[in-house]
Amino acid sequence: MALTWLLRERSTGAIAAYMSLIADAIKLSATEKELHRLDYPFKTIPAMKIAKLAVSTPFQEKYKGIGSLMVEMAIQIAESCNELHFACRFITVDADIEHNKTVLKFYEKNGFVPNEEIKGKNRKTISMRRDMLFKA
Ligand SMILES: CC(C)(COP(=O)(O)OP(=O)(O)OC[C@H]1O[C@@H](n2cnc3c(N)ncnc32)[C@H](O)[C@@H]1OP(=O)(O)O)[C@@H](O)C(=O)NCCC(=O)NCCS
Repeated sequence: MALTWLLRERSTGAIAAYMSLIADAIKLSATEKELHRLDYPFKTIPAMKIAKLAVSTPFQEKYKGIGSLMVEMAIQIAESCNELHFACRFITVDADIEHNKTVLKFYEKNGFVPNEEIKGKNRKTISMRRDMLFKA
């Protein structure tokens, strides 16, 4: 179950990018919690996940920064949820390294850090998080 947002070019209606957002929760180690100055007595912490994100290839070639713009839009949506509807502390993503080996760099440039529990494991995706309050 997901809600998908489209970014369309005004003049042509073409879909430039899409992202799907879902509710999430993450477990962090004591060290990770410290890193985020998180004094929280529960094991799981509420989050919002970018479940899908892609920029259409012609638009990637035409413009720089659309993927980062979509991440910023996801953060704004989470901020408005925090103010009006429900609370979440992290934006999460499972970086798809199977299909895009270097995608981790894109998320790192956008303020995400890999979650400790999955580091070093041979996986198709790498779970990452971005703190909405503090830079980790
Ligand atoms: C990953 C994706 C969304 C990035 O979108 P984009 O519009 O190209 O990204 P931006 O222009 O905002 O890039 C921001 C920065 O990240 C870098 N970057 C973008 N994609 C990268 C990649 N695959 N590997 C390494 N760096 C990347 C850019 O060079 C840029 O760096 P700079 O600011 O130093 O110039 C896009 O390439 C895409 O749709 N890929 C296919 C689908 C995909 O892999 N989705 C993610 C699955 S989790």
